[in-house]
Amino acid sequence: MIFLKATPAAVKKAAASIRKGGTVVFPTETVYGLGADALNPLAVARIFEIKKRPEFDPLIVHVASIRQAKALAFVTPKAEALMKKFWPGPLTLVLPKKKKVPDLVTAGLDTVALRMPADPVALALIKRARTPVAAPSANRFGRLSPTTAAHAKKQLKNGPDVILDGGKTRIGVESAVLLLKGRRASLLRHGGLTLEEIEKATGPLAAGPDGGKKPRSPGRLAGHYSPSAKLVLLGKRKFRFKKGLRYGYLAFTKKPALKIKCAAVLSPSGSLQEAAAGLFSHLHRLDEAGVDVILAEPVPQRGLGRAIMDRLKRAAGKPLK
Ligand code: TXA
Ligand code: MG
Repeated sequence: MIFLKATPAAVKKAAASIRKGGTVVFPTETVYGLGADALNPLAVARIFEIKKRPEFDPLIVHVASIRQAKALAFVTPKAEALMKKFWPGPLTLVLPKKKKVPDLVTAGLDTVALRMPADPVALALIKRARTPVAAPSANRFGRLSPTTAAHAKKQLKNGPDVILDGGKTRIGVESAVLLLKGRRASLLRHGGLTLEEIEKATGPLAAGPDGGKKPRSPGRLAGHYSPSAKLVLLGKRKFRFKKGLRYGYLAFTKKPALKIKCAAVLSPSGSLQEAAAGLFSHLHRLDEAGVDVILAEPVPQRGLGRAIMDRLKRAAGKPLK
């Protein structure tokens, strides 16, 4: 494994590794991804191995242009309008797939998830690799997503061939995942592009990710995005402390009145952007402090707050509402 600062020369090296069937950790504007040549099933298999990810969970394919997307999926005018409006950016579109996408990438589904990331390092890497790049978040399956290269290295150890360090990611939560099938559009995952922004372009969506009983995206399981510590999402009911356990606290705008040693504040000014950008970093840090339980305050359920609450609820292992 080589760990490189994401200079143009390093991106060139990483792209060569992808062309040879290697795996590369790279920054995007949302979280770090673990990428490989999406058209090379052996390379894609390495991603599942390194992440310890079950093969029923399909991957997002990252592209550097709409033209590249059209080679992989059937792009309707409606889908193309969304690409033009929101790409490059934190919106993943799930579309009917073309034959050339390997089954391992889509877990045998007849759809493929596509996204054009906005981070210049990610875009340069995909362009240089001259192939679409399949990449899930660069964490062990079910664990906290990485917003720094160090987070990814800690979880994946020497698994990937190259790690590109492009600093802290700007948005901090994963992309929104929108399913477009026939005339239907439904949101499978809240993310970096907010529901409000999406609906401004699409009109009201049929159902949100919490609308149905079972998650329609195979990877949307309760218990995802979990720190090692047990996470408790604070609610209306009073919380009882247990003796002998070490507690950490994730506050929204201010430290709690309670005496807790490890407390983190997501955003003193109440900005949901700032809260999303720091969410996983704070959880990584609380985990490293070795607490047994992390108490997390809820944040307002609007804008990026929906994605934050989604991650906190899943980290707490709560079933969907
Ligand atoms: O921001 C992001 O989206 C990051 C960066 C690296 O791009 N990637 C990411 O990938 O979060 P991952 O694998 O951690 O999450 C992909 C989600 C999973 O919930 C998966 O089940 C869903 O997208 N997904 C992928 N293909 C799908 C498909 N064909 N149908 C339904 N859901 C799909
Ligand atoms: Mg993930």
